[in-house]
Amino acid sequence: MATLAPASPIVPGSVLLAAHNVRKVYGHDRTPVLENVTVELRDGEFIALLGPSGSGKSTLLRILAGLMDASAGDVLVHGEPRRGLNPDIAIVFQSFALFPWLTVLQNVELGLLATGASDDERRRRALKAIDLIGLDGYEEAFPKELSGGMKQRVGFARALVVEPEVLFMDEPFSALDVLTGENLRGELQDLWSEHTIPTRAVLMVTHNIDEAVSLADRILVFGANPGHVRVELSGLPLAERRKKGPARAQLVDTIYHIMTNPTEDAIAFAEQRVARVPSRATGAAAPVERAPRRYQTLPDVGIDDLTGFVQYLSGTGGRGNLHELSRDLQMRADDLLALVEATDLLGLADMQERQVFLTPIGQRFAEVELDEEKAIFRTVAIEHISLLRHIVRELEDAPTHTIEAEGVLDDLEHSFSGAEARRQFETVVDWGRYAELFTYDDAAGELRLDEEHRMDLRTKAQDA
Ligand SMILES: Nc1ncnc2c1ncn2[C@@H]1O[C@H](COP(=O)(O)OP(=O)(O)OP(=O)(O)O)[C@@H](O)[C@H]1O
Ligand SMILES: [Mg+2]
Repeated sequence: MATLAPASPIVPGSVLLAAHNVRKVYGHDRTPVLENVTVELRDGEFIALLGPSGSGKSTLLRILAGLMDASAGDVLVHGEPRRGLNPDIAIVFQSFALFPWLTVLQNVELGLLATGASDDERRRRALKAIDLIGLDGYEEAFPKELSGGMKQRVGFARALVVEPEVLFMDEPFSALDVLTGENLRGELQDLWSEHTIPTRAVLMVTHNIDEAVSLADRILVFGANPGHVRVELSGLPLAERRKKGPARAQLVDTIYHIMTNPTEDAIAFAEQRVARVPSRATGAAAPVERAPRRYQTLPDVGIDDLTGFVQYLSGTGGRGNLHELSRDLQMRADDLLALVEATDLLGLADMQERQVFLTPIGQRFAEVELDEEKAIFRTVAIEHISLLRHIVRELEDAPTHTIEAEGVLDDLEHSFSGAEARRQFETVVDWGRYAELFTYDDAAGELRLDEEHRMDLRTKAQDA
């Protein structure tokens, strides 16, 4: 995930830009183009958006960038409702969108027009961007003199010249021939992963599954009529993105299957095969899909084992093979799997084939002091654990910030058998206490909000 170290350090889990339950109806149309779309773009991540033609991908980009308004739902920039154009976002279009009567340099300078930079400043920064993107020597050329690949470089330079916090790309390589596209894509990937650009997050629309798998930390597959997120998949660990291998093939096949079976339950299908990003509002929103289970099943793992396991993995180079782990830790396979599942669920580790890898956040979690460790855990737990999120919301809403354990158990019994409901409850209490989200008084049977680490979840998407 942290493929980028911008000027200031990445804040794990921090959401830069979000669409919550967005709906879009064009003009006097009756049918929406987007319905209940929730997408969160986090610090340091590269998201790819795949989906059929007409599923509203470009529309979503335009709404997020502030080029148009949603008909319903919220767009949040750093957690605040967006007003007007978002100056922190730059877009690269498939069509290049260059002005034919302006030179390369002038086209790139255009990106800075809205910033109020002086002429000198604009020129200086434009030349720097031109250099960065491999266009030097072409400053005075006009678009018609350029090949498609060079034209798109101008598109990139014009976007990057503003040093955008977030970069949007709408099928940036699909108008180019295959080799040119691949070449430019590789260069972009290097700029991003080597931190040459200060951009903190990227959202790219593509029709190309391979491209999505090569680049993305997260892959969202859209469905149409109306446009919605069908499923959200974890990208491959960095080391496996560009090379051929079974994990890569598996992910490509899974996405291919999902996209060629538009009416199939994408979440259920993906769950059997690849790492799915634990449900936020994805899928749940889709009117054509069945509602997913209310809460994920939490593996029966205590916090000490969980943190110990992450520490251990960190000590073995951030990865481990299941067989060796089971031997070295002298654990039964199912206990080990529960640990792996828990770290995976929380986004601290990824599982590919028989290997477990710490994610960048997992690695960080292993390295920091206790207070920061807890802060990271708090963020990932709220992000990934729907039950925990639900409890914290209930606590927020309760007048005394206290709720009864009995109520939570009742609720869990809608999804789990009695014994399992109790076990889920114990696990979530263990995790929530460690995260200092709440305290639990066993004698009184009460959960109480921890005021010190209060997280306001009211702006977050509703759970299903
Ligand atoms: N300005 C507009 N006015 C009316 N309808 C529009 C407008 N722009 C797009 N649409 C319609 O909204 C739907 C979604 O369009 P959009 O361009 O967002 O889809 P997309 O997923 O980007 O498709 P593609 O993959 O072909 O680029 C389409 O049915 C399209 O015809
Ligand atoms: Mg489009």
